[in-house]
Amino acid sequence: MFYKGLIEKYRKFLPVTEQTPIISLHEGNTPLIKARNLPTQIGLIGEIYFKFEGMNPTGSFKDRGMTMAVSKAVEARSKAVVCASTGNTSASAAAYAARAGVKCVVLIPEGKIALGKLSQAVMHGAEVLEIDGNFDDALDFARELSVKYRLTLVNSVNPFRIEGQKTASYEICESLKQSPDYQFMPVGNAGNITAYWKGYKDYNKAEPSKYALPKMMGFQAAGSAPIVEGRPIAKPETIATAIRIGNPASWKTAEEARDESRGVIDKVTDDEILEAYRIVAATEGIFCEPASASSIAGLIKYVRQGYFKNNEPIKVVCVLTGHGLKDPDTAVATAVKPKKVKANMKDIIDAIGL
Ligand code: F0G
Repeated sequence: MFYKGLIEKYRKFLPVTEQTPIISLHEGNTPLIKARNLPTQIGLIGEIYFKFEGMNPTGSFKDRGMTMAVSKAVEARSKAVVCASTGNTSASAAAYAARAGVKCVVLIPEGKIALGKLSQAVMHGAEVLEIDGNFDDALDFARELSVKYRLTLVNSVNPFRIEGQKTASYEICESLKQSPDYQFMPVGNAGNITAYWKGYKDYNKAEPSKYALPKMMGFQAAGSAPIVEGRPIAKPETIATAIRIGNPASWKTAEEARDESRGVIDKVTDDEILEAYRIVAATEGIFCEPASASSIAGLIKYVRQGYFKNNEPIKVVCVLTGHGLKDPDTAVATAVKPKKVKANMKDIIDAIGL
């Protein structure tokens, strides 16, 4: 059957009716790709799968939530949507708003947005305001705009976002025909870990013997790790700008996901993130953005510290939340530079080392 996006596919699990106008770019249905090299390389007994959310229409998982949030905004006759963003939410909101014909206002932290994401927001015609502050400041303003001026807030505090995003767990369960034992993922504003946990619980409730609950393993960047530190971080810093967040809106529900699943929320350094970013690109052929690689960095850290004690083979999913092309600057700045050669065959052969 012709795939028409996640609302059509999972209609009965989502708060939509026949009257809801569906604004879709055929998001969801992203590949679950089995790692060929990583388990041996890092010494993990079992299977690793990448849920490659970079394959969504705007290149990140945000589209799952945005198809729901914007469809419901149009149903409620909202004339404009607003969000604060480290980049991906703004790209997604701008695209879905353009398709729906509603105005989109985005507030972004000055100078910290990856180039691909900014190019999307401006191309889709959003009103982009770079504010002189960080993501957490921007979210305060976006909330105020939604309350005082009745713009629809499409950050993940909008419950329809979480509803849309939980479908990623459904897809993983369907692909594996069981749930994974562990799920590793980045944590920023903490909506996505909240959404995945909700999705896994839905499947577990429907068929507990088939879909056991996975352990949720969330990772923040070391310079932006409020949940790990147990306090808001006033000046969050990390190369993984997507998760440069000091006071996550879904803090409490992220802790619930961690505790109910008997998982962890921990941190990884920028060096560990960059190492994982390069490994998955160079040995699995998958290019994700730095924030996404924190899931793999977390897995590598936990294998190295001997977390997986018994030698039972396990099934692990790493969520790769956004595409590497979102942030070409970090790729070019941190990878080996192209060699410059004269335009003759001898120099080319010498450079290749044949
Ligand atoms: N990975 C990427 C690529 C992201 O863009 C984000 C969040 C996360 C992970 C973390 O997800 O916030 O649900 O815990 N990006 C938001 C944005 C904040 O504005 O695009 P989370």
